[in-house]
Amino acid sequence: MSGGYQLVQLKNGTWSVRSVAEGETFHPVIGPVAEAEALYVRQLRLTERFATAAGEFVIWDVGLGAAANVLTALRALAAIPGRLRVVSFDHTVEPLRFALAGAEQLGFVCGFEAPIAELLATGTAQFRHGAMEVLWETRLGDFPTRLAEPAAQTWPRPGAILFDAYSPARNPAMWTLPLFRRLRELAEPSECTLATYSRATMLRTTLLLAGWYVGAGHATGEKEETTLAATRLELLTEPLAANWLERVRRSTSAEPLERADYRQAPLSAAAWEALLKHAQFAT
Ligand SMILES: C[S@@+](CC[C@H](N)C(=O)[O-])C[C@H]1O[C@@H](n2cnc3c(N)ncnc32)[C@H](O)[C@@H]1O
Repeated sequence: MSGGYQLVQLKNGTWSVRSVAEGETFHPVIGPVAEAEALYVRQLRLTERFATAAGEFVIWDVGLGAAANVLTALRALAAIPGRLRVVSFDHTVEPLRFALAGAEQLGFVCGFEAPIAELLATGTAQFRHGAMEVLWETRLGDFPTRLAEPAAQTWPRPGAILFDAYSPARNPAMWTLPLFRRLRELAEPSECTLATYSRATMLRTTLLLAGWYVGAGHATGEKEETTLAATRLELLTEPLAANWLERVRRSTSAEPLERADYRQAPLSAAAWEALLKHAQFAT
């Protein structure tokens, strides 16, 4: 253990990183690489999207942690010529520093030691990986605070968002309605998709009320269903339909969080009205 993080071996034999202070293991069931592939690389169709991108393709990596998601994406895209920009957000680089020290056991870090060291030292790493040019940068600090600042308007707009905060009960500041509204404002409007591991009704109503189109996401082995959000309905293969609204009505935990203060409540009348007016349902 070091600096509040430890290496843990999962039941399937793979290794992951655990935050002792938060009591949370990153990618706890199927392991970092398998989860990153299923949840982010395949679901966000990163290879197809990157291969057909007109210019630089921008990924926002929300919750850099030990960088398993980013490094798995880099491996998956290696054969495609193009320019990839990854903007990683976190309030600490300690899990990444820890992962670099444990590179051998963590496997997914191997081969990326030099760019990670550069990223840790300067906040930016520019390198060639396979056929692509990569610009990887970190934006450190409290993500909700930084996102709300006017300067965020000047950040490169993401075409894909890997949303991997800790769970809402433990990390409510990362799951509020204002946060997802702001993400929608800053996303590449023509084509941005966001994937996350939760399928909670509260998360989905939050995304919808923040202006995203929302669909069921693939199973990952850990979760039987996840969530995919998009700036356009056509980007979703399984958009939530009217029968999902029935579930919302019955749910005791559907009202979005306005603040970083976790609580569960049924959907308010005002939120229900707004949901029915969403273009995804108002046909
Ligand atoms: C589940 S871990 C991410 C794992 C990572 N994606 C990986 O592949 O290894 C969640 C991350 O979110 C970060 N985080 C939690 N709350 C945050 C906040 N308010 N601002 C910025 N980062 C935050 C944590 O520091 C942690 O590294």
